[in-house]
Amino acid sequence: YNVKWDIEAASKGGFDHFMIKEINEQPNGIKETLNRRLDENGDIKLDDIKLTKAELDNINKVYIVACGTAYYAGLVGKHAIEKFAKIPVETDIASEFRYRDAFVDENTLLIVVSQSGETADTLAALKEAKSKGARILAITNVVGSSVSREADDVFYTWAGPEIAVASTKAYTTQLVSLYMIALDFAIKKGTITKEQYKTMISKLGETSDKVQEIIDNSDDIEKIAEEIKDSKDAFYLGRGLDYCLAMEGALKLKEISYIHAEAFPAGELKHGPIALIEEGTPVISIATQDVLFEKMVSNMKEVKARGAYVIALAKEGNKEVEKAADRVIYIPEVDDVLSSILTVVPLQILSYHVATKRGCDVDKPRNLAKSVTVE
Ligand code: G6P
Repeated sequence: YNVKWDIEAASKGGFDHFMIKEINEQPNGIKETLNRRLDENGDIKLDDIKLTKAELDNINKVYIVACGTAYYAGLVGKHAIEKFAKIPVETDIASEFRYRDAFVDENTLLIVVSQSGETADTLAALKEAKSKGARILAITNVVGSSVSREADDVFYTWAGPEIAVASTKAYTTQLVSLYMIALDFAIKKGTITKEQYKTMISKLGETSDKVQEIIDNSDDIEKIAEEIKDSKDAFYLGRGLDYCLAMEGALKLKEISYIHAEAFPAGELKHGPIALIEEGTPVISIATQDVLFEKMVSNMKEVKARGAYVIALAKEGNKEVEKAADRVIYIPEVDDVLSSILTVVPLQILSYHVATKRGCDVDKPRNLAKSVTVE
């Protein structure tokens, strides 16, 4: 009788891979990130981040700068800050921002987003903006990381250590952080009412249970993975916030399954991408935004008519989507602006199953590193 102690298997806590373990840890990461920043009245507490109303009123431009998945979280952050706090936001890729002589001055706030806090380009972009007088706010998962030391203020995500190269739980906690920052700025600037503020915080609180619900009911996603696992290409379509998620979904698939995956804003289909559709090409079409729903359904019909295998992602109850899609993944009802936190989860699960079914090393994909500390 011989008990073999395998540290790696033990730290996977019964899961086959770190990636799926980390996907499952998201409800908790969301809760932790939120609760650590709520005071006894349930208001957002950015006590260590000393951005006063007067300072915020002086900020006329926000840049969100990051790489990879953190960049895609930053695109969602732009939507949230512009919508709630009414400040113009530009989200940029760190390696582009650092060399392009962007207009930055003392009235600029630079938000850097980095799970590791060690990404070379993100750190360089931070230093560049700092030398021009920008105020720096870092969102990072690692206490004491380079980015956290260089920044004026730090908002920590509480995802816990992320081991899989493909980022999952760091992304959802980055989203929660960006929504909280947006809501805090908005209430300080007076661009939302106290009632709207309270409502959004409580809806943000509900996302963790809804993510759990998606995880608990994900068997159909595995079946869809089986159907598309041998594809050469996969396309992701979305509009508005859903386009940001399409980009993150495509990144997740290409990183770990090596299927060529690309995202397009659905409105651009006719300007080129539709030429790529062949018989059976999977097109993951995200349609969670109420005002854009009909437009997305039309886009699905367009690609389906050209032979695409349409996998739609929509909110529960929007059954009309079934007419335009081969498969539908439903997410629980959620406020449009917060849908990102839910939408990403089926996309992660789909990529995970496609990659494992293809026999890929999901936790350590070829050619990729968890943290890119050299240029
Ligand atoms: C690498 C990782 C990605 C990550 C990106 C940015 O490419 O593989 O998962 O999103 O770096 O990393 P950071 O630590 O700055 O968020």
